[in-house]
Amino acid sequence: MVDYAIVSENLTKIYRGRGFSITAVDHVNIKIKRGEFFGLLGPNGAGKTTFTKMLATLLIPDEGEAWVDGFSILKEPVEVRKRIGWMMGETGGRALYWRLSGYDNLVFFAMLQNVPRDVAEKRIRTLLKFLELEDAADKLVLEYSTGMRIKLMLIRAMLHNPDILILDEPTLGLDVESAIKVRTFLRRLVDELGKTILFTSHNMYEVEQLCDRIAIINKGKILFEGTPRAIREKVEKLKVVEVSVISDDSGINEILKRIESLPIVKEVLNYEKAKGVYKVRVSVEDHYTAIPEIANALRNYKVESISRSLPTLEEAFLKIAGVRIEEVERRGRRMRRVPLE
Ligand SMILES: Nc1ncnc2c1ncn2[C@@H]1O[C@H](COP(=O)(O)OP(=O)(O)O)[C@@H](O)[C@H]1O
Ligand SMILES: [Mg+2]
Repeated sequence: MVDYAIVSENLTKIYRGRGFSITAVDHVNIKIKRGEFFGLLGPNGAGKTTFTKMLATLLIPDEGEAWVDGFSILKEPVEVRKRIGWMMGETGGRALYWRLSGYDNLVFFAMLQNVPRDVAEKRIRTLLKFLELEDAADKLVLEYSTGMRIKLMLIRAMLHNPDILILDEPTLGLDVESAIKVRTFLRRLVDELGKTILFTSHNMYEVEQLCDRIAIINKGKILFEGTPRAIREKVEKLKVVEVSVISDDSGINEILKRIESLPIVKEVLNYEKAKGVYKVRVSVEDHYTAIPEIANALRNYKVESISRSLPTLEEAFLKIAGVRIEEVERRGRRMRRVPLE
């Protein structure tokens, strides 16, 4: 029998207000093994924060149950809290005292958690070293960069030496270099210290690189669960052709119709106009056949180029998540798809 660090059973959260109810987390079942680096991947509004907050006993579920280190989040929340370190990247910095030094912040939070002073000081030193934050320990937090504050938040989450870390988008807003450092550190926590990490992100490549196992969440539902390799295989199946064609705005619908009517074309992913040229991105069954067929379908148009293209992150993500581009558009994101008719 596998001993799980985190198990959720039909975990559900509905936000209700005047005239609205949003099922933010919808019957989620997840099992995370001890010593596993588990990634929860999903776009903004997918339910990641809500899910992790329920596990951290900060929100009460409407339905379902979860166990952390074998303790029920509903019946034994105090025990659960003792065993987890929770951190939220986005607003994490606000939970520090900016007019205290990093070190003093940590000593203070250790005190709140009843960690004996000598144990705390030793742990703080070790963690500061591990995260390469020693030199900044005596500086005021207001002088810290975002990356440094995130590191401090991570140490703060570990002052009571929990075996399980629940980290909600810890790399959000970090510059590339700090993000790499934080990731390396997190991986070492799992590999060298045997910690279990539940990590959320909307960055597919980050999760792919870092995690042992991944679940994709969208609209509160888990759509996929598997290894990074299984995800990669899905992405590689996505074949994209980009067509650049000169057209005025009245001509584009006809162009899209012609492209879409080809059996080799699965769907138009996206199109945008720049300097009189429309760039149309389509997913196809096979490049070699699709390129000449598209060229033929558009033979009466001014086609600048048709070429194979790598899927963008969003296209790949949407493919895995099975999300239609229209849905993304409704959430006000960058991708646009105007109805054809
Ligand atoms: N306090 C709240 N009241 C009402 N709706 C909320 C609240 N918090 C989150 N939501 C909604 O619940 C859904 C999931 O949000 P969230 O868990 O923050 O997702 P994520 O962390 O993946 O971005 C979103 O539709 C969001 O707008
Ligand atoms: Mg969130």
